[in-house]
Amino acid sequence: MPRAGILGTGAALPEKVITNADMEKLVDTSDEWITTRTGIKERRQAGPHETTSQLSIQAARKALEMAGVSPTDLDLIICSTISPDMPLPSTSAFIQRGLGAPACCAFDLAAACSGFLFGMTVAEQFILTGKAKYVLVVGAELLSRYIDYSDRSTCVIFGDGVAAGVLGPATPPSGILAAEMHTEGAFADHLYIPAGGTRKPASCETVRAREHYIKMRGNELFKVAVRSLEEVSRRVLDKAQVSAQQIDLFIPHQANQRITDAVRERLGVSAEKVYSNIARVGNTSSASIPICLDECVRSGRLKKGDLVLMAAFGAGVTWGGILMRW
Ligand code: UT7
Repeated sequence: MPRAGILGTGAALPEKVITNADMEKLVDTSDEWITTRTGIKERRQAGPHETTSQLSIQAARKALEMAGVSPTDLDLIICSTISPDMPLPSTSAFIQRGLGAPACCAFDLAAACSGFLFGMTVAEQFILTGKAKYVLVVGAELLSRYIDYSDRSTCVIFGDGVAAGVLGPATPPSGILAAEMHTEGAFADHLYIPAGGTRKPASCETVRAREHYIKMRGNELFKVAVRSLEEVSRRVLDKAQVSAQQIDLFIPHQANQRITDAVRERLGVSAEKVYSNIARVGNTSSASIPICLDECVRSGRLKKGDLVLMAAFGAGVTWGGILMRW
């Protein structure tokens, strides 16, 4: 069976670091609370002139270079983002223009924190059907633009960041072994931005009511996240007939260190096989998994032949998993 795999990765983080001490100056919180309840010590914040597409282009260039693929060889660009440059046109159009890629197919995908895995799964279908050879998938978020820095339950969690992967044909045994995507709209009101869409267009009133900021029912989400991440991990492992103990690396979405620990324990994966960078970057939504992936590839933590399991959960709610052999 032919397979699709990741040929190169790249990441781009804004330079500005916001520490927990900085957060203590903004809201009634403490380094002790943030560290013990989330595992986060600092996160990045984009400057006023940085945009989702600019950072995406930086990350994409690094991924293309690692893959040895020219932008002119791209057949498809998928940008997973819930914080686009503009409502219209798609951020992927700016990425295509910035990279100097041909007038290939390019679109945005909105699946929040699960978006990079959704994008990879879509890319895999294009590659396996021969519709595309090389696909750029970007997970890009500047969530700081949607954060209410007077709401301590959300502002300490989210950070900005972007990462990309170039997918293409892979030679077995390397490549994607199993993938799953799920959405359950019954939990749509657990994590959302009330205004700015067609339901509640922007107005002076929506701005006054702070309705352009992220609202989150974190406690309820926590339980759904642990359950979904465990379930989807088991499903992709079962599909590929691989046991949790056989995997070499587990990269969960970096939502909360306590979620990661709970899922790891439930799956029976040993702690040293789990990658976590939440202390340094916080929750970067759809950029979370590809940033981890890029760090693992560049540091040598992920080596050719390794079995890597990735699992994500986010607003929607959405959740997904991918098992691949590097
Ligand atoms: O990215 C994917 C989607 N997101 C998630 O999956 C997020 C999942 N949820 C979480 O990570 C956690 O629920 C949070 C980190 C958001 C919150 O942690 P928690 O342990 O669930 O706290 P809580 O919401 O149950 O709040 C406990 C207390 C409350 O005070 P009272 O009512 O007990 O007096 C909060 O007001 O902690 C308070 N609190 C804070 N205290 C200090 C909430 N945020 C803060 C804060 N600093 N930043």
